[in-house]
Amino acid sequence: MKSAISEKFMTLFGHEGEFFASAGRINLIGEHTDYNGGYVFPGAIDRGMLAEISLNGTERVCAYALDLDEYVEFGIEESDIPEQGWAKYIFGVCREIIKRGGRIGGFNTVFAGDVPLGAGMSSSAALESTFAFALNELFGLGIDRFELARIGQATEHNYCGVNCGIMDQFASIFGKKGNLMRLDCKTLEYKYYPFNPEGYSLVLLDSAVKHELASSAYNRRRESCENVVKAIRKRHPEVEFLRDAGMEWLDEVKDEISEEDYKRAEYVIGEIRRVLEVCDALERGDYETVGRKMYETHYGMSRLYEVSCEELDFLNEVAKKCGVTGSRIMGGGFGGCTINLVRNELHDGFIAEAKASFAAKFGHEPKVYDVVISDGARRL
Ligand code: GLA
Repeated sequence: MKSAISEKFMTLFGHEGEFFASAGRINLIGEHTDYNGGYVFPGAIDRGMLAEISLNGTERVCAYALDLDEYVEFGIEESDIPEQGWAKYIFGVCREIIKRGGRIGGFNTVFAGDVPLGAGMSSSAALESTFAFALNELFGLGIDRFELARIGQATEHNYCGVNCGIMDQFASIFGKKGNLMRLDCKTLEYKYYPFNPEGYSLVLLDSAVKHELASSAYNRRRESCENVVKAIRKRHPEVEFLRDAGMEWLDEVKDEISEEDYKRAEYVIGEIRRVLEVCDALERGDYETVGRKMYETHYGMSRLYEVSCEELDFLNEVAKKCGVTGSRIMGGGFGGCTINLVRNELHDGFIAEAKASFAAKFGHEPKVYDVVISDGARRL
């Protein structure tokens, strides 16, 4: 990938730039908890984005997406927003830096990535983080890493229409080889957890389906959570996020909220608790409990939060039948991957069975990715 980027960069711009990279992410547990002030447990992976960049002394960005063979030029004023989806991410990062008082100018870039798109591994956060990290370095802005993550998140909110939480950008910026991170999304306190489960591996099965309207459905889930918080606050004004409430307080407002909102909140409150239970289990080396919690998360995401689909439920069932320790939908849902914690001796049989039975039902095999926990944003 690097040499293809170099070659194109030289052809387009006639000189060399500097290389920056960032990563996609997995999440062991803690889904849809980030925007509820809860815990998440992600790690950066060995798939990400790679960009060559040089400052060009103008007020324009000249960007080439190698994977799409598309070249775009745009200015960095608010009205210069480009049309291409991928360019909006880079533009948004520029704007969010400028809004925070960062003085930046134009640059040339060629970039490429190997995070599968739409698979729930946060290819967009990898792109945002690469550019947020790189521009901070190249323009010597001195922005701290939390703010870099927020810049990526605000790009999603303000330029891409997704009211996401902070997990993906945090993982992509803070990722550390061999470590998962437990992040408290309310306080932003985090802790690295070395993750090397002896005798087990993490495998992603990508259903390769991406449902339309995933982002509006995502935003609606968030609204449900906010409705419930509003209702609870009437009695308990200190509640800022669902994270601050337990099931008793949810039950107090049961008659004041819709059945749907109740189910959504029930899932979130349970999921926040599960993250902590998984952390305890990991510290004891108790992977069977970790796996059981993953299945509980799948159930909640499928039946209560309703962000699963037929293909993902099917993959989860196959995992169960094959005796896989833990399996669940990963990421926002509505397509993408399941993440599976598999004992090594079951690995090959499980993959073969998942491929064959999924293909028999849906006409194509799921893609398989072994997970390697790696570093996040960096200069090469
Ligand atoms: C997407 C969002 C994250 C998070 C997950 C679900 O990846 O970008 O902020 O909400 O969904 O856990």
